[in-house]
Amino acid sequence: LSFDPKEYWNRRAREYGEAGQGWKAVCYIGDSDWANKYLNSLQEWAVFRTVTIKPGMKILDAGCGVGRWSLKFAQLGASVTGCDISEEMVRIAKERAAELSLNVDFRVQPIEELNKELENSFDLVISIGVLQHIVSQEKFLIACRKLVQMAKPDGKILLVEYVPRSLRTQHSTIPQMTCRTRKQVLEAFERAGGELVFERGVRFMKIDLYWRYVGRAVLRNLVGSNGSRSSIGVLEDFRRAGVGPRMATTVFNLIRRVVLMLQTPADKYLAGALTPLAFDRVLLFKKIDNCSFQR
Ligand SMILES: C[S@@+](CC[C@H](N)C(=O)[O-])C[C@H]1O[C@@H](n2cnc3c(N)ncnc32)[C@H](O)[C@@H]1O
Repeated sequence: LSFDPKEYWNRRAREYGEAGQGWKAVCYIGDSDWANKYLNSLQEWAVFRTVTIKPGMKILDAGCGVGRWSLKFAQLGASVTGCDISEEMVRIAKERAAELSLNVDFRVQPIEELNKELENSFDLVISIGVLQHIVSQEKFLIACRKLVQMAKPDGKILLVEYVPRSLRTQHSTIPQMTCRTRKQVLEAFERAGGELVFERGVRFMKIDLYWRYVGRAVLRNLVGSNGSRSSIGVLEDFRRAGVGPRMATTVFNLIRRVVLMLQTPADKYLAGALTPLAFDRVLLFKKIDNCSFQR
């Protein structure tokens, strides 16, 4: 396997984890703060409509990154354990917890290797944007099993993942990401002893997809270019048309912000109502008691 997850996530943490909220390390890599803030707000909106965090609740944040969710839940009084494959992510998460005087049990540990002693001990296991980054199918299946095992017999497992219904039009070519369909994820959890009890769309449209359509249309009219499929290509088109780099970036960002603003109601409200069409979704599983597949 050419992709080394530990090395990759350590690098991302070192490059982007310490600035601001560290969202550039765990959301869209290196993207502007406002774009990541937008994604964060959509995910929060969906997560807090799916589960209620109560003081004293035992939560496992599997693939905790820089502690985006662990710290939030600890602030609400939950007793949180966070694990991550990357020691750099965990180092930053620990520093943030110390700054906020929060007590979170952060550990450097891949989900697949979670300790046996943690089994059956969490009211809620969350894993947000993590399984889609476990490229190896074998490790993915082990991780699904582990997440279910860690939950108490009546516990829940919450995922936020990029899980479209079909992969026909939605291919990822980036090495750190593996797209699996909703059916594939559901099957893996069923085999692991988890039953889907709730599901909610997080994003109805893909920001990039929209931006490309609008960006291309605007470019065709404004600068006579054919437009490009990638953000970098769009910027290059601007430059080729004689628009300076600063101006090009400003126009690019302006259009993108307008697109985001316009699609907010669709993302927030329609994504819930039209869950089958969403790309990103919250999936809530219940651990099935006495399941024979759990080991
Ligand atoms: C997209 S980030 C999301 C982080 C965090 N869940 C959040 O929502 O802010 C993915 C995280 O998963 C971690 N990760 C990737 N593979 C993992 C594995 N097998 N076990 C545990 N963590 C893993 C990465 O180090 C990274 O911090």
